[in-house]
Amino acid sequence: MSASSELRFPDNFVWGAATASYQIEGAARDDGRGPSIWDTFSRTPGRVFAGHTGDVACDHYHRYADDVALMAELGLKAYRFSIAWPRIQPDGTGPVEPRGLDFYDRLTDALLDRGIDPIVTLYHWDLPQALEDRGGWTNRETAEHFATYAAAVHGRLGDRIRTWTTLNEPWCSAYLGYGNGVHAPGVSDPGAAFTAVHHLLLGHGLAVRALRAGGAEVVGITLNPAEVQPADRDSAADAAAVRLVDGLQNRIFLDPLTGAGYPADVLEHVSRMVDPATFLRDGDEKLIAAPIDLLGINYYAPTYVAGRPDGAGGSAWPGTEGAVQFLPAAGPVSDMGWAIEPAGLGRLLDRLAADYPGLPLMITENGGAFPDRTTDSAGRVADADRIAYLDGHLRAVHAAIGRGVDLRGYLVWSLLDNYEWAEGYRKRFGIVHVDYLTQRRTPKASARWYQEVISRNGL
Ligand code: FCB
Repeated sequence: MSASSELRFPDNFVWGAATASYQIEGAARDDGRGPSIWDTFSRTPGRVFAGHTGDVACDHYHRYADDVALMAELGLKAYRFSIAWPRIQPDGTGPVEPRGLDFYDRLTDALLDRGIDPIVTLYHWDLPQALEDRGGWTNRETAEHFATYAAAVHGRLGDRIRTWTTLNEPWCSAYLGYGNGVHAPGVSDPGAAFTAVHHLLLGHGLAVRALRAGGAEVVGITLNPAEVQPADRDSAADAAAVRLVDGLQNRIFLDPLTGAGYPADVLEHVSRMVDPATFLRDGDEKLIAAPIDLLGINYYAPTYVAGRPDGAGGSAWPGTEGAVQFLPAAGPVSDMGWAIEPAGLGRLLDRLAADYPGLPLMITENGGAFPDRTTDSAGRVADADRIAYLDGHLRAVHAAIGRGVDLRGYLVWSLLDNYEWAEGYRKRFGIVHVDYLTQRRTPKASARWYQEVISRNGL
């Protein structure tokens, strides 16, 4: 390829990979870790594919040093991982378990030794079960406990970790956890889902305040904004469906986070299922609007909708029944059945930059699950489909930066094949293959491709 056809990224562009505690750590009972809602949920018959649990996962808890060495080999500049709250406070409140903090301390030092910038997520879905027993995110107190936990983690690691994100995808925690029960804790109650949205946002706001008080430098949150498209651009009904879904997945989070409070149309929709006065108190929106320095974006696929009075709706968007039809992907899909459409990422970034200006963005997750059936002559996974997915999305990212979007970095999901929640181990997102019987890690062709992209700082 000639130099002129190269796509170069900005000099300080952050290249990295992401994982999450329950998906990779294993060691579910080590060093005083308490049970989380995912331990309970994965053990509940019928909830997770083939009854898979995160008990062992990638055994990263014991193999972190080798995993960090692998990251260094691939040239990663940053690594996004999450802290398991039940390792730090086994019951979600009360005394801190020093052995839990010790693990993240060792991991942090191992990363820094290799020149890899740690990016911490404080909550990637593994709520201590003891808190769920008291209502979980439907209980306002959980938000307060979250801030206490955040301060404890920052107190130990804040001298070395610059970038702190509070929550990962609160949309999933609330709507999949409490709305349709596809994720832990498996509750199906629309009112509970909206109550959880608010307490998650409140927990974020309180945690931001606690992190700032401790002197945290860069503080943010990661969302999974929907890139919602109408089936028919000229249909008013489809435009209304877009507006509703956009409200439930995007504006309900982004507007309060950026100081505009909850949108009136969204509150009106919510009121059909639960009276917001039961959870929303004076002063909450101000706390939620605590300024942030970074908005993490997880993007996988766009969402296509049509407005139809007989629409089935989507169970993950409470109250859309009888109003919205979610449409199956028209083009190619990943092994998750998710549409592969890099242009959607470009549209999403443009929209966020236009509607929520002044907020630096980072792609904190993007990647694809593919069956990984073919191997090359050395026995390595020849995942051309994953490379094509990543290449297409990175081109969309590059173009968005060229249009002026303030996008600071890109973290591939995921470093390793791992526990894909309700899908168990059957979906593989890693750029590194994991043999779950031997725990052997083998970089796939995509890992070598990504290594090359990072070393050239471009495509
Ligand atoms: C995101 C999650 C992440 C992973 C990917 C595929 O919603 O944040 O943990 O499961 O999806």
